[in-house]
Amino acid sequence: MHTSLLAGKKGIIFGALDEKSIAWKVAERAVEEGAHIVLTNAPVALRMGGINELAEKCKAQVIGADATELADLEHLLTESQNILGGKIDFILHSIGMSLNVRKKKEYTDLNYEWMQKTFDISAISFHKLMQTAMKLDAMAEWGSIVALSYIAAQRTFPDYSEMAESKALLESFARSFGYHWAKKAKVRVNTISQSPTMTTAGSGVKGFTDFYGYADKMSPLGNADALACADYCLTLFSDYTRMVTMQNLFHDGGFSSMGMAPELID
Ligand SMILES: NC(=O)c1ccc[n+]([C@@H]2O[C@H](COP(=O)([O-])OP(=O)(O)OC[C@H]3O[C@@H](n4cnc5c(N)ncnc54)[C@H](O)[C@@H]3O)[C@@H](O)[C@H]2O)c1
Repeated sequence: MHTSLLAGKKGIIFGALDEKSIAWKVAERAVEEGAHIVLTNAPVALRMGGINELAEKCKAQVIGADATELADLEHLLTESQNILGGKIDFILHSIGMSLNVRKKKEYTDLNYEWMQKTFDISAISFHKLMQTAMKLDAMAEWGSIVALSYIAAQRTFPDYSEMAESKALLESFARSFGYHWAKKAKVRVNTISQSPTMTTAGSGVKGFTDFYGYADKMSPLGNADALACADYCLTLFSDYTRMVTMQNLFHDGGFSSMGMAPELID
């Protein structure tokens, strides 16, 4: 389905590591809908991933940026405006990583230095991005900034560990910064709380395959996949949602409203 929903819009997309990444699908779909984009990821990820293949497909330039480094973000936002020829209409923050999860530390025995790094990468980077963009006056009026979250921000999913607090912080930044952006330039800030999705970050969580199946049964529409998530992101980048801001929006096939699913008992 192509509708030129984003015709003429300029965007920056963080986090396309490989073709399973949610950001990869968002990039492909945004360009199909008429957007011009810049792709970005941490320098180490650029060396690993197939982002050049995506860039070629999307006719997009790639700029490396560690999202925890203010200088990198400043360079990215300045260069992107030069490349795209003006202010930015939309940004996708699709970044998540937990050092304690990666190193298999139990939630009751966390390493606090790693925890701080996790918060910096997965949540504070969102504030750093918005603060840098605001200082550079890089966002167009009625622009849209979206970050990806997970329902562990509201409910307990034991193996999600410190990422739960990262997502709670991320969602809170969307509400708080969303106020300031709205007042300054009518820019919108939202988070999308996505179903479990088979990606590198997703499958790094212990027991992910079992959990993925559980969520799929619990959700009356089934789990939302990365492509559907991309389509939802596009609606938030579009002018049709121009009065939506400071929200955490569930994109989960109905999971968040369920109490009990008979399918899980049979
Ligand atoms: N996969 C799921 O089940 C799921 C569910 C809900 C929300 N999310 C969220 O979606 C987002 C995207 O994850 P994904 O599932 O597509 O996995 P992914 O592993 O493909 O993407 C994560 C990205 O974060 C990037 N990243 C890590 N550290 C960075 C840094 N310092 N600077 C810049 N980029 C950095 C990685 O390079 C990678 O591209 C994350 O916020 C994740 O928490 C994922």
